[in-house]
Parts: sequence; structure tokens; C-alpha cells
Amino acid sequence: MCEVRWNLFIFLSPIMYLTLQGQTIPKDIQKCHFGNTKCTVDSMNAVIRNYPKGLPEIGMKPIDIVDAGFSQVWKNEQIGGTWFNFKLYDLIAYGYENTTITKVEGFGKNPTATRMEIHGQIPSLVHKGKYISYGRAWFIQLNGTGPSFSDFQNFRFTLKLKVIQEYRNNKRYLNIYELVPIIHMDRWNIWLDEFSPENIDLTIAVNKVFNDNWLEFWNELEPTVLPTLANTFTDLINNIFEKVSYDDMFIT
Ligand SMILES: *[C@@H]1O[C@H](CO)[C@@H](O)[C@H](O)[C@H]1NC(C)=O
Ligand SMILES: *[C@@H]1O[C@H](CO)[C@@H](O)[C@H](O)[C@H]1NC(C)=O
Repeated sequence: MCEVRWNLFIFLSPIMYLTLQGQTIPKDIQKCHFGNTKCTVDSMNAVIRNYPKGLPEIGMKPIDIVDAGFSQVWKNEQIGGTWFNFKLYDLIAYGYENTTITKVEGFGKNPTATRMEIHGQIPSLVHKGKYISYGRAWFIQLNGTGPSFSDFQNFRFTLKLKVIQEYRNNKRYLNIYELVPIIHMDRWNIWLDEFSPENIDLTIAVNKVFNDNWLEFWNELEPTVLPTLANTFTDLINNIFEKVSYDDMFIT
């Protein structure tokens, strides 16, 4: 009897190998019991620290350089004698590798029964890209385009996730269908370069207005920046959910 089972196992193992391939979690990643949020936080932080370049086996993309798409930020804001419409595009984000997860909620046995939240902090979340702008500064008509630099300092986030679960090979896989980010930061540094190539003083003056009034400026732009951030987080997390079943993430 035992021998029959053994032979059957040998026969089945290549098939099992194929179906399980890509779903097994590397040994050095700590698995936790469902709902053990402390353990889950520690395990997430270890993965972030150990794999800044990503880990394809678990669907984790590189987090040290992240394609952040573009931010449609056409606005009519009047701040400190300036008035601008602008758009940031070709954005690349730096600093996600320094994320510390501070708290999670949910991640229980039934992931759709309780709200899932991920809280974290990034010392400096930098976006480099390009911008196009047109506007007026102190009654001077100004059209600018050039490299943009943005730095969210002591960036804190709460991600509220809504997930659906689907079954593949009798295992539950999650998919985020809504992610709402709540964002706080200590300071936003922004630099729009070459604003006025022929007048460096004007470029400095315009950037000084942005930075001196960063909070007012952020409050105006936040509604248009949040969807870009939500897309980035959703993409990073969904890629892992797609590759590793929820059941394989935890001790079952
Ligand atoms: C991430 O942290 C490392 C170590 O503290 C630091 O050298 C690096 O500049 C940080 N990355 C960003 C984008 O701030
Ligand atoms: C600035 O750009 C706007 C919108 O594209 C355009 O209507 C305006 O003529 C431009 N002004 C200058 C001075 O280039």
C-alpha cells in the first residue's frame, strides 16, 4: 500500500511541481498565522529590507526605482501672486525601498470579512520627472517645461484596501479593487527646473513661492496626486496577490 502511494507520488510530482511553481514562498520569508498583525508587519518589513530590487518569485517588483506614470495636475491655482496650470509626467519614484510598515489591520482568515489596512512611513519619497506649465507670476506670462523634482519628507501613508477573492487550484487569491490612500508629510520640497531658462532669478523666485507655500499648494494638488499614488501602491501589491495565493502567505 505504502509503495503504491510512493509510486503515485513520483508520478504526480512533476505535475505538482508545475502547478505549485511560483506559488511557494522562499524559505527566508517568515510566514505568520492569520490575524497575527505584529508578525505580518515584521515579515513585510524584512521583505522590504532584503529585496529592494524585488523578488520575481513572489511577484514583487523592484521598489528602489518605481515607474510612477504621470500626474494630471492642470490647475488654476493662485498662490502668492502666481497663477499656474501644470502637469507632471514621466515620473520615477525613489525611496519606496526605505518604507517601514508600522501597522496592519485585517489579514485574518477571511480577508473580505474585516477591513484591510496597511500603515507605513517613508523618510523621503522622491519623484523625478518632467513638467509642463503655463501661468503668470507677478503679471509676467510664463510658460515652462523641464525636469521636475519632488520630495515628500517623512511621508506617512494609510492604505485602505478593498479586495475580492478568487479561487485557483482550490486556493484563494486576492485582488484589490479599491485602494484609498491617506497621506501626511512633514514637508514637500519641489523644484521645477529651467522654469525660465533665460532668467535664472525668476526660476528661483517661482520655486521659492512653491516651497514657501508648500502646504497650501499641496492641499490644492492632493486630490489629483492621490490617484497616481493609489495606482502605484495598487500595482505593487496586486502583483504579489496575483502570484502568491493568500493561503500560501500564511501558516494554514
Ligand atoms: C534610502 O535609505 C538609504 C539608507 O539610509 C539612503 O542612503 C537613501 O538615500 C535612501 N533613499 C532615498 C530615495 O531617500
Ligand atoms: C503659453 O502657453 C499658453 C497655453 O499653451 C499659450 O496660450 C500662450 O500663448 C503661451 N504664452 C507664451 C508667452 O508663450
